[in-house]
Amino acid sequence: MIRKFIYGTPFDTEAVTTEIPCSDGTPAYGTVCTSGSPDAGDGFTFTYTMDKDDIVYGLGEASRGINKRGWCYTSNCTDDPNHTEDKHSLYGAHNFVIISGKETFGLFFDYPGKLTFDIGYTRQDTMRVFCENADLALYVIEGDSACDIVKQFRKIIGRSYIPPKFAFGFGQSRWGYKTKEDFRAVAETYRKNHLPLDMIYMDIDYMEAYKDFTLNKDFDDFADFVRELKDRHVRLIPIIDAGVKVEEGYDVYEEGVKNRYFCQREDGSDFVAAVWPGDTHFPDVLNPEARRWFGDKYRFLTDQGIEGFWNDMNEPAIFHSAEGLAEAKKLAAEFAGSGTANWDGSLKSEDGAVSVDQLGDKLRSLANSPEDYARFYHNVNGKRIRHDKVHNLFGFNMTRAAGEAFDRIDPDKRFLMFSRSSYIGMHRYGGIWTGDNMAWWSHILLCLKMMPSLNMCGFLYTGCDLGGFGADTTRDLLLRFLGLGIFTPLMRNHAALGTREQECYQFEDTEDFRHMLGVRYRLLPYLYSEYMKAALNDDLYFKPLGFVYPENAMAVRVEDQLMLGNEIMIAPVYEQNARGRYVYLPEEMKFVKFLPDGSISEEILGKGIHYVEIALNEAALFIRSGKCIPVADAAEYADGIDMDSIRMIGYEGSEYVLYDDDGVHRDYDNKANYTTLKM
Ligand code: GLC
Repeated sequence: MIRKFIYGTPFDTEAVTTEIPCSDGTPAYGTVCTSGSPDAGDGFTFTYTMDKDDIVYGLGEASRGINKRGWCYTSNCTDDPNHTEDKHSLYGAHNFVIISGKETFGLFFDYPGKLTFDIGYTRQDTMRVFCENADLALYVIEGDSACDIVKQFRKIIGRSYIPPKFAFGFGQSRWGYKTKEDFRAVAETYRKNHLPLDMIYMDIDYMEAYKDFTLNKDFDDFADFVRELKDRHVRLIPIIDAGVKVEEGYDVYEEGVKNRYFCQREDGSDFVAAVWPGDTHFPDVLNPEARRWFGDKYRFLTDQGIEGFWNDMNEPAIFHSAEGLAEAKKLAAEFAGSGTANWDGSLKSEDGAVSVDQLGDKLRSLANSPEDYARFYHNVNGKRIRHDKVHNLFGFNMTRAAGEAFDRIDPDKRFLMFSRSSYIGMHRYGGIWTGDNMAWWSHILLCLKMMPSLNMCGFLYTGCDLGGFGADTTRDLLLRFLGLGIFTPLMRNHAALGTREQECYQFEDTEDFRHMLGVRYRLLPYLYSEYMKAALNDDLYFKPLGFVYPENAMAVRVEDQLMLGNEIMIAPVYEQNARGRYVYLPEEMKFVKFLPDGSISEEILGKGIHYVEIALNEAALFIRSGKCIPVADAAEYADGIDMDSIRMIGYEGSEYVLYDDDGVHRDYDNKANYTTLKM
């Protein structure tokens, strides 16, 4: 049962694809205050008093736990590479929550600007959701359980994106690969070491001067190079950034300027933001005509054989604007004219003059500043809309530009696409990766916690930078990241420029990496099958334990294990030097380990808490009682998996329905794609 309440004049975000009539009256849960109310001022506030045992699920990409209680989260897409616990906003805006407990219901606040969820931060028992303008649609969803509410929500937002099968293989990435030789070396070293690999990602250096839809001079014969790698079963996946470089003679820039396809300032001039290429303009992806134009630019690469992309910097990230820089320079000039030296050599201002702290603050706040997001406008069907009012829709619509273009380029074919920034609705066009995480042990767990929350919001093709993006990784950290990553649909090792090299062959005893990656390919038929079933049935691929065992008071509090598909539970190790971990089993399960010699150990463990040993070079999972899963022989790329090698592991006498298809086309709803396998 879904009710929709409209307040003011909402912007149509296109997150919801189903027509739902508007309800009269007020939501059955909580209290809403709109304009003029003493509580909300000019804005909107939803208030709900939580029972002490209520659990709050949702919010997709966010800091902290699976249970979101006890913190304040702000939907405000932000390029922030420090994903620490104190953060309120990350790259996405996913305004869907489920309150599960005394009363169980879901809420979707369809609002494209900044929106805050205070979930027991100000008062432990109170959830307050508020935003500046009382112009939004609120969906209230009732159902039998949290899981049922998710399914209903997913149904109204449309089917989740389905990538090609190769995208379930392993991908290697690193910011800094630049030439054909760099890419060839990665492909060759993976193949030489028999380390499985399906994709190599091309970060910004493949372009000429970071200009979208260009190639640096090393790639003159790009189509040949794409073919050369594809012949070795490796796909190249280029990055596309949001900002288009300002440069006379660059066709994308010139066409955009001529056709007024870029976001503009109030005076009608094109807004300038500095990002990787220096000064750029932002394509106005909220304008359908400009979106079509930008999307068609991807053809430059698809025409040369490219079958997948990652969209980046699309919050959109701004290093500084021309205006912001001018203000900072002015402040610096005033500071230079007025500062006096302290005894320790630092500068101190005289009364009323600019202080070193003020100047420092200004310089630090140049990037991604709220002032800049209020300096430019979108043209949405002839109506001018200030960017900050619809800020959270930019990444969504950049990815939609590509997705709509792929449908024009080849309506039968699937393309790989994932994005950094997103809003609910984008889940129909692509997946997401969780941005610039760190080579920190705590980030294995953070990734694990985000996965089910993202699934609730429709994002199924998800994963994090394995090994960690920022900071130097270590061999054991990468192996433990892989212990989780072998299960995430998007499985990619990516690292920042200047960090320690972390391709799987950079460390001693490469066979351990070969084994861990191999397990991914052995499980791929199962993982793909469960992904497809989740996508086709608006279900979750990753569930919190509480979704499967809602009556089990211990299971609902577990924050470091996940249910995957309908058959298995995962419990990765996320602490350095640990030889294993404690795990809670809500029912009897089979503890399965993929051992380095290729064999599989199985042990039945009863309901309760167990300490399980999992060595660095072992991959572990738990099969639910009465179930079984298919396991194939290891392969070095997704197309190389021998489906005839499949054998079943798990409980005797059980069955599994395997979904499979060619992984290329969109013939999903075909009965022939399902086969029953018996144990
Ligand atoms: C951003 C992306 C990161 C990429 C870098 C350079 O930080 O999040 O993945 O490597 O830009 O393009």
